[in-house]
Amino acid sequence: MDKRSTNNEKWWKRAVIYQIYPRSFADSNGDGIGDLQGIISKLDYLEELGIDAVWLSPVCKSPQDDNGYDISDYQDIDPMFGSLADMEQLIQEAKKHHIRIILDLVLNHSSDEHFWFQEAKKDRDNPYHDYYVWRDGKEGELPNGMRAVFGGAAWEWVPEVQQYYFHQFSVKQPDLNWENPKLRREIYDMINWWVGKGVGGFRLDVIDQIAKEPDRQITNNGPRLHEYLRELSRETFQKADLVTVGEAWGATTELAKLYSNPDNSELSMVFQFEHICLDQIAGKEKWDLAPLPFLKLKEVFARWQTQLCGKGWNSLFWNNHDLPRIVSRWGNDKEYRAESAKMLAILLHGLQGTPYIYQGEELGMTNVQYEMEDYKDIETLNLYRERVEKGYEKSDIMRSIHAKSRDNARTPMQWNDSKNAGFSDGEPWLKVNPNYMEINAANQTADADSVFHCYKKLIQLRKEYAVFTDGVFELLLAEDENLFAYTRTNASQQLLVVCNFYGKTVPCGLKQADASMRLLISNYKDADQMMNLRPYEARMYIKE
Ligand code: GLC
Ligand code: CA
Repeated sequence: MDKRSTNNEKWWKRAVIYQIYPRSFADSNGDGIGDLQGIISKLDYLEELGIDAVWLSPVCKSPQDDNGYDISDYQDIDPMFGSLADMEQLIQEAKKHHIRIILDLVLNHSSDEHFWFQEAKKDRDNPYHDYYVWRDGKEGELPNGMRAVFGGAAWEWVPEVQQYYFHQFSVKQPDLNWENPKLRREIYDMINWWVGKGVGGFRLDVIDQIAKEPDRQITNNGPRLHEYLRELSRETFQKADLVTVGEAWGATTELAKLYSNPDNSELSMVFQFEHICLDQIAGKEKWDLAPLPFLKLKEVFARWQTQLCGKGWNSLFWNNHDLPRIVSRWGNDKEYRAESAKMLAILLHGLQGTPYIYQGEELGMTNVQYEMEDYKDIETLNLYRERVEKGYEKSDIMRSIHAKSRDNARTPMQWNDSKNAGFSDGEPWLKVNPNYMEINAANQTADADSVFHCYKKLIQLRKEYAVFTDGVFELLLAEDENLFAYTRTNASQQLLVVCNFYGKTVPCGLKQADASMRLLISNYKDADQMMNLRPYEARMYIKE
């Protein structure tokens, strides 16, 4: 008999996951950088919010060229964040708060300061040489014209071996060679060691790039990708009851069905970015801004909801540490900040999939408009330099950075209205958003009408009503230029969600809304009639 469990009854199908960017969450020792003890001190807050698991951006040992996404030791904690003992304590303490800890696995590349790479670059016969991707060449004559995501060539010359190594991200992030079975085995052993420590799962960084084939200029979705993933899953994840979520910028619904096949052969789910890439000029970079095509947004959500239903599993998110704040991006961070933050929450949390909340999203935290010298992110700094060299207007570059810089998401968490928003007693590594006096956790946990309480309620509703997990999605009013409306239906319940995505009052025009529906949540106090929807008004009804 086949004893392998399938994904149908997994805990993470009813879960809500909270992402912490440890550097910016809570600093326990005043060095200006968030740390593991800081996270431990905030577990009560997370339990009150009601989340089931925390995904931690990388905390392993790292020279921090890309804020920890450049790992030099996968089995130790960076002293900046604490020690391995702190990590073990976090896992145990979180468990007492009914929270699982999910680690970020960066398996596409390591740091150039990792022992493997230090060995690999010594000579071509070194046993670790083949852990990385090398090509012969002559200095100054690159193997091909491939570019790195953070700018510049994807090839770097190493005189000792007279070869180039391949890096899809910064020069300090050499790509690992997944074709080498010995490397794969080392990775599996490392993962199983973390599983033994009691972690609840893993987020897999840029996982669709591990099967690269640079000679054919292939980065995402290489031919051997799903073969590698099935082996990885068999050797590690399937031995425990874990959640696994892969970051897959190149995923289509067809590919997502492979990744998140209910037979549990690969991952639980992937992050796909089709909705997130809509407000940029097609074929260009994220910095090349375009207005959000609203009808397209609805079409994209509807397609993912429909196609994965019963055949895979969606992750639901607006935000992460690489993305601008959603309330500034597609809401209104001025006069309707709270209303639009709640509307976006209600819209997303009614969908099928596992919702992710990025730290501060539950407070409606906003983007920042800093001067260039206040930015720290390697991608932002490189972009600025490149575009200045290319002759772009400075004001245009800053407009792009204000809209899309990853530092928008990375400003310190706003805990209260004391110095540095209560994040740190020292000088924070990145400036605090000046609006912390108004927007902070202390205010909002005390105010039953806050964005925080809206998120808390949505999390509770997901636990209470099965239709959030299993209801079949149907898009309503597909051609409406203002409203995002849908139903979710199972054998005994129906949810109706209707959201005004913009700032002017519009007629509702939904025949589905009738007296038999009970209001579950909304973002206006007197939302008892269906005639009109006010700016950013959102309502969620249930019929049982
Ligand atoms: C992912 C991470 C991002 C990082 C990159 C390289 O996209 O989310 O923060 O810079 O991978 O590891
Ligand atoms: Ca610290």
